[in-house]
Amino acid sequence: NEGALWGGRFAGGPADALAELSRSTQFDWRLAPYDIAGSRAHARVLHTAGLLDADELTAMIDALDRLEADVRSGAYAPAPSDEDVHGCLERGLIERAGARLGGKLRAGRSRNDQIATLGRMYLRDHASIVARNLLDVVRALIAQARRHPNAPMPGRTHLQHAQPVLLSHHLLAHAWAVLRDVQRLVDWDRRAAVSPYGSGALAGSSLGLDPNAVASELGFDSAVYNSIDGTASRDVYAEFAWVCAMAAVDVSRMSEEVTTWATKEFSFVTLDDAFSTGSSIMPQKKNPDVAELARGKAGRLIGDLTGLLAALKGLPLAYNRDLQEDKEPVFDAIDQLEVLLPAVAGMMATLEFHTERLAELAPQGFALATDVAEWLVRQGVPFREAHEISGAAVRFCEEHGSELWDLTDEQFAAISENLTPGVREVLTVQGSLASRSSQGGTAPDAVARQLAELERQLAQL
Ligand code: ARG
Repeated sequence: NEGALWGGRFAGGPADALAELSRSTQFDWRLAPYDIAGSRAHARVLHTAGLLDADELTAMIDALDRLEADVRSGAYAPAPSDEDVHGCLERGLIERAGARLGGKLRAGRSRNDQIATLGRMYLRDHASIVARNLLDVVRALIAQARRHPNAPMPGRTHLQHAQPVLLSHHLLAHAWAVLRDVQRLVDWDRRAAVSPYGSGALAGSSLGLDPNAVASELGFDSAVYNSIDGTASRDVYAEFAWVCAMAAVDVSRMSEEVTTWATKEFSFVTLDDAFSTGSSIMPQKKNPDVAELARGKAGRLIGDLTGLLAALKGLPLAYNRDLQEDKEPVFDAIDQLEVLLPAVAGMMATLEFHTERLAELAPQGFALATDVAEWLVRQGVPFREAHEISGAAVRFCEEHGSELWDLTDEQFAAISENLTPGVREVLTVQGSLASRSSQGGTAPDAVARQLAELERQLAQL
C-alpha cells in the first residue's frame, strides 16, 4: 500500500472496492492549496517547538513551495492510489523533500483537524466571492429603482391587486432580502474564523505546538477552545449551507416574478436578448431561462443543506468518516451560486420595464378601496364602518361595471353621507402613493429615504 498514510498495522492493502469507496480526491483536491498553506504553518510551529531545525524548516518550506507550484500548474495531481488530498500531498512532499524530511511534517496533526480547518478556509474565501456576487444583484436592483423612482405598479397580495406601490419600492424589497443574505455571510464569518488546526485526531497534541500561531498564519482570529468540537462539529458548514440556500430562495422568489412579468398576459417587462433563450422549434420564443434556472437551483441548494444536516444528525463525537460527506454539499452550493448569480444580476440589470402598462394597471381591481377607507378614518369615521362603506362602494362599482373614480357625487352620497366629494383626492394613484409616507412606506419621499438607508448599510459592509 505504497503512499498510504496508515499502512503499518495492516498485513495487506485495501480491497479495490474499499479504495474506490474511500477515495475523495475527485472532490477534495480543490482544497490542495489550503492544505499546503496549513502545512507551511504547521512546519513553522514544529520548528518553534524544536522538532525541525532551521535548515529542515527552510528545506521543508522550499519543498512545499515547489509542490504548490506543481499543484497550481497541474504538473502534480492525484493518482488513483491516493486516498485523499492529504495523502496525495504527503506523497508529493516526500517526492520533493525526501522520505526523512517529508515524513516529519505529519507529527502532531491529523487529517481530522486538517480537513476541518481547510474546509473553513475554503468556505471563507468563497463566502466573500458569493457575497460580492450577491451585492451585484443588489446593485442591479438599486440601479433599476433609480431608473424608475416614481413609476407606479400594481402591488399584489395573494397575487391579486391589492394597493398601488412604486416599482422602485417593489424592486428594493428584493434588494433588502439579498442584502440580508450578504450580512449573514459577514456575520457567519465570525464563527468560521476559528481554526481547528492543533486539535489532532480529537484530543489535541502532546508536542508543544502552538495552535494560535497556526490559526493566525492561516487568517483565523483564534484556534478552537475544544479539540473534540474542533474535529467533530460541522455547524459552521451547515450554517453556510443554510445561508446559501436562503440566498438561492430569495433569488428564486424574485425570478418567479420575472417569469410571470415576462408573460404576454402580464407584459410588465421585456427580457434583454442577452439574458433570454430561444426555442429549437418555436421561432417566436423568448424564454426566461436565467430565472427558471434560479428557481430550479434553489431546490438543489435546499437539497445540499438537508443532505448535510441528515449526515450530521446521528453522529457521535468526535470524528466519524461520515464527515467526509460534508464537502460536496457546500462545494455544490458554492459552484451553483457562483455561476447563477452573475447571470441573475445581468438579467435584473437589463430588464426593460413597461412603465406605462404598470401605471395603467396600478389602480385596477379597486386597488384604491383602502385609500377610501383611510380617508374616511381621517374624517372621523371608525375604521370598522369605513371599511364597510368602502366595500359597499366597491360592490356598487362591480354591479355597475364602473370604477371608484367614475362615481358621481350623488352616487357617493347614496352609498354613505360620509362620502363627500373630498374623497376624490385619494382616488388617484399619485395621491394614494404620496399618502404612504411613513418609514417603510411606498411614497416617493419615503422610498428616497429607504434608498439612502440601503446605501448606508451597503457602505458598512
Ligand atoms: N478525507 C477525510 C474527510 O474528508 C479526512 C480524513 C480523515 N480520515 C480518517 N480516517 N480519519 O473527512
